[in-house]
Amino acid sequence: MISQIFTSLLAAVCIITPVTATPVSATDIDLSKVKYNGILSRGGQGCDQQHPAAVSINGAAVGLVESFPQFTASYKSGDAVDKQRQFCQVAIDISYPDGLQYRVKEVTVIDSARISEGASAIHDITLYFGGSTDQSTVSKTITGPVANNAIPSTNVISNKVWSPCNESQYLNIKNAARINAGTSKDKNSVSIKYVVFGLEWRRC
Ligand SMILES: *[C@@H]1O[C@H](CO)[C@@H](O)[C@H](O)[C@H]1NC(C)=O
Repeated sequence: MISQIFTSLLAAVCIITPVTATPVSATDIDLSKVKYNGILSRGGQGCDQQHPAAVSINGAAVGLVESFPQFTASYKSGDAVDKQRQFCQVAIDISYPDGLQYRVKEVTVIDSARISEGASAIHDITLYFGGSTDQSTVSKTITGPVANNAIPSTNVISNKVWSPCNESQYLNIKNAARINAGTSKDKNSVSIKYVVFGLEWRRC
């Protein structure tokens, strides 16, 4: 189920993004020299050595896909709180030629959650480029009750940040998940499965 949703999401990112990218259509920008060089560092229990996150870039440099083999926050009222909040931060390296810059314009997330009435789960994403304090943020709240379903949602980012011009900088991506037990006495959990970042490019 999740992989089907994921495949169609990926197809949507590939097909739709070049057409809808504003302010500049990606089709008249040469992205052939854009190169994804991998993950430079990772930190947090959501993507530690046992559960490393993976990131791949779409060939036309219009989308990044981050996947998590095991990134779960869970909490039951009265339990220890060590699993109630989890995060994963990766720094990725995308090199691009002078005269071009990019930003993340939207984020599609697929989370799987089991949340009882009265409880909620929050998935926050923070993005920033090395050497800058400007951040893009996305926050998704899943309010119970929900069964153990994959919950895709696309979130437009309001505070989008451009990468530096004529200087490739690493991009920091932080995913954080937490449970608010609220009035629930059940065990509540949320797993982050996939995050798809839609990119747009412009000349600078
Ligand atoms: C970036 O580099 C390009 C190509 O060398 C140049 O045309 C442009 O003026 C530079 N932009 C800035 C902001 O330095």
